[in-house]
Amino acid sequence: MSAARILAASDPSALPAAVAALRAGALVAMPTETVYGLAADATNARAVAGIFAVKGRPQFNPLIIHVYDPDAARAIAVLSPEAERLAEAFWPGPLTLVLPRREDSPIAELATAGLPTVAVRIPSHPVARQLLLAFGGPLAAPSANRSGHVSATAAAHVAADLGDDVALILDSGPATVGVESTIVGLAGAPTLLRAGGVERVAIEAVLGAPLAAPAAGALEAPGMMASHYAPAATLRLNATSIRPGETLIAFGPPLPGAVATVNLSPVQDLREAAANLFAALRTLDGIAPVIAVAPIPNHGLGEAINDRLARAAAPRT
Ligand code: TXA
Ligand code: MG
Repeated sequence: MSAARILAASDPSALPAAVAALRAGALVAMPTETVYGLAADATNARAVAGIFAVKGRPQFNPLIIHVYDPDAARAIAVLSPEAERLAEAFWPGPLTLVLPRREDSPIAELATAGLPTVAVRIPSHPVARQLLLAFGGPLAAPSANRSGHVSATAAAHVAADLGDDVALILDSGPATVGVESTIVGLAGAPTLLRAGGVERVAIEAVLGAPLAAPAAGALEAPGMMASHYAPAATLRLNATSIRPGETLIAFGPPLPGAVATVNLSPVQDLREAAANLFAALRTLDGIAPVIAVAPIPNHGLGEAINDRLARAAAPRT
């Protein structure tokens, strides 16, 4: 794989180059506060098809549409009063709302996989916001990793996964949240479709009601499949001691005996742990066949961390 073109987002030529690439239907890796996104013009079906080609992702998996502001969200989706309340509370930020798609929505059908709904998010990352404003339209953007790999939280991770299949990588340093956005379905009763960067309790507080779990037997989108986010190594979760030859993802006090250790947060801060999670999996993958993972409490951002760890540990499909 040849070297990818990486530009510091602060480079004056970076934003114009990214806008030009997007207008030409090419792909741009953009930093967001959660993970790096692989962005394309969401109204250009050929550009969107490029995302699926580069990620190696099944085409029936719908994409998140990133927009600059709530008016741009209202141009593509129907926001119920509940949706407006969540938007007011959490946008811009790491929350994605799955909403009924507007009939006159200009979003390419391919980006929403032909569904009557659309997943919308307003990111808070300043570079993502500058890009959305300068481009002047919606951007379809899944996480900027090959399908099945862990999400990219740094420009170097994007380059390692996608190489020069992407026209340009905007480098803005490590992602601060580190896990993907929380996805709430609002086409019916408010449903937690994916735990993520906004804690469940914060959303429930705004709604004044608990979030439902996805209906059993509901079609699982590939991005939600159990074996998503898989490193090559096997994960052994909730490890309280180290077996011979294992590496360790620690949380708080390190365990003795590991071949190599990455500590998600020595002070047991779940935000710090989320920010370090995907880089830790990438760092330890390939060192030893088994990565032991210390127990992570399941409250707050721990719900998203444990969800990603369970997927990374699941048997491969
Ligand atoms: O933080 C994030 O959300 C990152 C950054 C780049 O914004 N994006 C991200 O996208 O994680 P992706 O494609 O890796 O995950 C999108 C998830 C998938 O599981 C997909 O199935 C689901 O959103 N999704 C998209 N549209 C949907 C819809 N209409 N109904 C249900 N699920 C949907
Ligand atoms: Mg993804």
